[in-house]
Amino acid sequence: MDDERIASLEDVPDDSTLLVTLRNGFEKVEVVLTRFDGDVAAWKNTCPHWSDVRLDKGSGAELRDGELLCTRHGATFDTASGHCTHGPCEGAYLEEIDVVVEEGAVYLEESTYSFDHLGPKSDRDRSSGRIGFGGN
Ligand code: FES
Repeated sequence: MDDERIASLEDVPDDSTLLVTLRNGFEKVEVVLTRFDGDVAAWKNTCPHWSDVRLDKGSGAELRDGELLCTRHGATFDTASGHCTHGPCEGAYLEEIDVVVEEGAVYLEESTYSFDHLGPKSDRDRSSGRIGFGGN
């Protein structure tokens, strides 16, 4: 297969998220992997309510009743569809990155992105809990 491997399936927790950093040209993009129904979905690590707020600040996002939680204002998101089911951005969707699970690993299906590394964009981002969007 041509798809790029980004993580082992067993590294994606049942009760939280796995944070990975992808690259799109010179831009680095944080993505969270979540489990649902034995499968894995990937979402850009930003809340649709305030785009500079990260769902996973480097140690895993919280889940509430099986839904992804934005702790800033309490929005919850369906882990399979990315649909905001409750909160200030109710009805909005997380931005999806196409991934596929094969033979115990998660592969990136989008050719515009490539895998950079596991974890946040940088240690500075991890400590601040905020990320910059220079130029975006
Ligand atoms: S920033 Fe996520 S709910 Fe407000």
